[in-house]
Amino acid sequence: MSGAAKVWFVGAGPGAPDLLTLRAAKVIGEADIVIWARSLIDEQTVREHARPGAEVVPSDERTLEEVVALYARAKAQGLVVARLQSGDPTIYGALHEQLEACRRLALPFEIVPGVSSVSAAGAALGQELTIPEVSQSLIFTRRPTRTSMPDNEELQAFAAHGTTMALFLSVRRPRELQQDLLDGGYAPDTPCAVVYKASWPDEVVIRCALQDLAAEVRGAKITTQALVLVGPALGDGPDAGRSHVYDPGYGHRYRRLGRPDRYRKASRG
Ligand SMILES: C[S@@+](CC[C@H](N)C(=O)[O-])C[C@H]1O[C@@H](n2cnc3c(N)ncnc32)[C@H](O)[C@@H]1O
Repeated sequence: MSGAAKVWFVGAGPGAPDLLTLRAAKVIGEADIVIWARSLIDEQTVREHARPGAEVVPSDERTLEEVVALYARAKAQGLVVARLQSGDPTIYGALHEQLEACRRLALPFEIVPGVSSVSAAGAALGQELTIPEVSQSLIFTRRPTRTSMPDNEELQAFAAHGTTMALFLSVRRPRELQQDLLDGGYAPDTPCAVVYKASWPDEVVIRCALQDLAAEVRGAKITTQALVLVGPALGDGPDAGRSHVYDPGYGHRYRRLGRPDRYRKASRG
């Protein structure tokens, strides 16, 4: 009852139990209270790692205020909380307001990074999302829903870059999404992918051209828990470049070229 109170914001990964990090598993196993969102994190993952006697609380039936009340109790009783967030907590994790609440309570907190659904989606696709000469930038964004977007973050403006884009929380209105991306300047035949529940047993992967995105999403009846990826890197053509880092003519710290003396001087600079 009198330990050091703390909240751990734990990245629980995209869903597969073995994509939880070792650090996350340790933190969950030591917590007095484990809070998790049922829609995005497998219950078995939670139960397997939580210690017997830990209070296990679903977050989805509570408001922010109710969760903060739990943090306040943890502070008063010297309890350790593990607050599980899907993927990585720092990406669309509704984290900021919780960190603010901890600061207000003078309650120490720490963040455990997690495997984001973007990483799991790339893995499910078996593709690199940043290919030299094709796409060297990856934009994480979303369509506005009940959460509006800042004025300078319109989807069309991001689409104008033509690079790889990962769209979170945006699959519910696929027709509007497709139109925004086309209006921004992606060509109708730009390769697209939809990954539903990446890393879960019922994962679904759809590949299509942007012009068919809405029809494909509707056809598969996907309305949530999916990432949409778009951009030329998602194609399977041979035009992709290769990384300079592994080029025989490119020396660096761990693989010297023919003149190590020259390399050494350069590396000191
Ligand atoms: C509230 S955000 C959380 C994102 C999370 N922090 C991350 O790093 O992946 C929820 C959205 O992330 C995406 N998402 C989360 N888990 C996913 C998964 N396993 N497969 C596909 N998309 C997922 C979906 O777009 C979903 O609507």
